[in-house]
Amino acid sequence: MLVASVLSLKGGVGKTTVTLGLVSAAIHAGVSTLLVDLDPQMNATTTVEIDESGPSIADVLDNPRRSIVNGALQKSSWSDLLRVLPGSEAAESHNNPDPNAKQLARLSTAIAKVDPAPDLVLIDCPPSLGQLTRSALVASDRAVLVTEPSLYAVTGVQRALEAVQKERLTHRHLQPLGVVVNRVRPRNTEHEYRLGELRDLFGPLVLNPNLPDRAAIQQAQGAAVPIHHWPTAGAREIAAMFDQLLDRLMRSAKHKTRA
Ligand SMILES: Nc1ncnc2c1ncn2[C@@H]1O[C@H](COP(=O)(O)OP(=O)(O)O)[C@@H](O)[C@H]1O
Ligand SMILES: [Mg+2]
Repeated sequence: MLVASVLSLKGGVGKTTVTLGLVSAAIHAGVSTLLVDLDPQMNATTTVEIDESGPSIADVLDNPRRSIVNGALQKSSWSDLLRVLPGSEAAESHNNPDPNAKQLARLSTAIAKVDPAPDLVLIDCPPSLGQLTRSALVASDRAVLVTEPSLYAVTGVQRALEAVQKERLTHRHLQPLGVVVNRVRPRNTEHEYRLGELRDLFGPLVLNPNLPDRAAIQQAQGAAVPIHHWPTAGAREIAAMFDQLLDRLMRSAKHKTRA
């Protein structure tokens, strides 16, 4: 089992888009996947079309007992290979500014109890570095950072990487996979400049490919279908990019530092 968190400092940069793109690529590739929606805005939960009235991640974080964890899991209409730990606005109560080690370990404990264990766990984080995101990092082998090619991209990525490094001091299995640069417009001078700046500073941590701005992403999300099932050329292009990012993520598992 490989656990990966998708995070950023800011909202609206594409965390949920990247998480769902990787979910889509994973089920397309036949990988059994668990999607964990840690964001109290629960956009990922809404998009994978599950019943939102049942128990959620908030109940699991309240008490990560085996029966509660497995009782909260739901099948998505996207694929039999996908199970979802649904998000909830109530998860906000688990976003303390100064969490203790026990609180930070709850998500990790819960994921270990999922039966049967999936091959891949993808965690969609809220736009902050509070308890929820930190508990995702504690549970994760890999961190995928997301940014747009904007003025504050460099400082945002730097702070997110620092948060990953800090968590790594006590959780050695955690490693940054890299940075996905999202919503890049080709031939946009500002975007090319920011992309260059990110590559200069973060080198190979800037993942390829970066993701262009494509209407297909919003169309597929609006229709609540995986990007691999959206029948346009733009969607096929984006789906192929997520296949590459998933491939990079799964290959990194070969160097995993825990069993
Ligand atoms: N590459 C892209 N092209 C077009 N629209 C995008 C792209 N990435 C994200 N979006 C749109 O931008 C909005 C914010 O993205 P989202 O993934 O929800 O961000 P976050 O989870 O970081 O808040 C969504 O409406 C999403 O459909
Ligand atoms: Mg989101």
